[in-house]
Amino acid sequence: MRELSLNILDIAQNSIAAGASLTEIVVAENTREKTLLIGIYDNGKGMTEEQVRNVQDPFFTTRTTRKVGMGIPLFKMAAEQTGGSFTITSEVGVGTRVEARFKTDSIDFTPLGDMSSTITTIVCMNEDKDFIYIRSVDDEKFEFSSAEIKAILDGVPLSEPSVMSWVEGYITEHTEQLFKN
Ligand SMILES: Nc1ncnc2c1ncn2[C@@H]1O[C@H](COP(=O)(O)OP(=O)(O)O)[C@@H](O)[C@H]1O
Ligand SMILES: [Mg+2]
Repeated sequence: MRELSLNILDIAQNSIAAGASLTEIVVAENTREKTLLIGIYDNGKGMTEEQVRNVQDPFFTTRTTRKVGMGIPLFKMAAEQTGGSFTITSEVGVGTRVEARFKTDSIDFTPLGDMSSTITTIVCMNEDKDFIYIRSVDDEKFEFSSAEIKAILDGVPLSEPSVMSWVEGYITEHTEQLFKN
């Protein structure tokens, strides 16, 4: 995938499909260590140990043995090819935690891409679910909560184009602020 935001979209969609009522997406950049952590944590239905093993294995993905896609193997590969690491932990009935660590100075590092648009899409297209997006650059942090936004909007649908563009602008503005300090 050309941008990590597309991987994040895919992994967050897994959380939604798993029935998560709350999904937390963390993007934490450390400019001194030149590392990026992406975490997607959900309270969905979870997976067994065997499922966790299988979903990480790209060779398990054939039409006959697996009816599912490549979201997890591709995200894992994107992290590992930079010299970073990847972990999934999951518990049935509790939820799933996906963490990918990247070395941003690797020539194989994929750019993050448009996170404002990605988060807006996830949040506004899944109004019945809650999301927390925590973006940090070194010690500067921005936390976005869909529940807070919904409270402010007081019943106005998030899928309204004007609301979506406001949400996207809000996230973009706060993200830019992280780099100004
Ligand atoms: N957060 C999650 N919670 C529960 N099950 C998950 C989660 N993420 C992935 N899975 C399981 O792993 C499978 C593989 O996920 P993925 O590699 O993204 O491919 P796809 O989403 O196309 O099926 C999913 O179909 C689902 O069964
Ligand atoms: Mg998927």
